[in-house]
Amino acid sequence: MTDHIKIENNAGVLSLTMARPDKKNALTNAMYGALADAIEGAETDHSVRVVLIRGEGDMFTAGNDVSEFAAIAAGGSHGERHVSRFLQALARSSRPLVAAVQGRAVGVGTTMLLHCDLVVLAENAQLSTPFVNLALVPEAASSLLMPLRIGYARAFEMFALGEPVDARSALAWGLANKVVPLEKLDAEARAFTVRLARQPAGAVGATKRLMRNPELLMTQIRAESEQFAKRLQTVEAREAFSAFAERRPPDFQKLAKQPA
Ligand code: COA
Repeated sequence: MTDHIKIENNAGVLSLTMARPDKKNALTNAMYGALADAIEGAETDHSVRVVLIRGEGDMFTAGNDVSEFAAIAAGGSHGERHVSRFLQALARSSRPLVAAVQGRAVGVGTTMLLHCDLVVLAENAQLSTPFVNLALVPEAASSLLMPLRIGYARAFEMFALGEPVDARSALAWGLANKVVPLEKLDAEARAFTVRLARQPAGAVGATKRLMRNPELLMTQIRAESEQFAKRLQTVEAREAFSAFAERRPPDFQKLAKQPA
């Protein structure tokens, strides 16, 4: 259990709030577990018609907790890893998923948006996928979904250089439905959930199933996970995690002559 995910079920809307603001809502294994349980549970709970994903504090999420990546790479992490269950729950969810995003959405913070059906961005939102910067590869089927959504050129730039995309560009590229002032973010996202909750849930779910292909997404997620696990063990990844812990830029060029 974790108190870093707040869960509220109100009038057909299940709100999931990432609530670890002192660490910029960086996602731990326990947080993935709580999110996975909630999204899986919504599948059989007919009172849930819409799922809203949001973050507390000044940003949506800084992505996976980097110290947990480092612990896995060092072989010091045991027990069930819930991230796969979370990604699977997202990819298979028949409930419409709505996201409200303020500030940074890093890594899985951005890739989870590709599984959301309506995305509302605050004007200060910045989406980034710096997996390569951490010597890793994209996850959550984003290596398939991102180029499909925004085109190969933009997707490769986002993945390979890891630089943030601002809210207006994200909207223009088809990554979001709406950009709103920060103070209106919650109300605008909730307005979408209320409208969706009033729609016939069976038809919404069937439409979603026609538009998305969970089996294809799961095949991609498995291929990405295999690569991800391999990359976690590389000297490049060790350098990236040490640099994060030591608050310095990584130096991958010094590794050029070592085996990857
Ligand atoms: N994992 C673990 N801790 C994280 C984190 C992450 N992904 N992102 C931020 N934090 C922690 C910081 O270590 C810091 O902890 P401390 O106060 O104990 O030192 C705290 O959250 C605040 O972060 P800080 O970097 O000071 O905030 P910022 O506003 O200057 O920068 C980010 C925010 C998101 C730009 C920056 O924290 C960052 O780049 N984080 C890493 C993002 C990342 O690579 N995620 C994985 C993607 S695959």
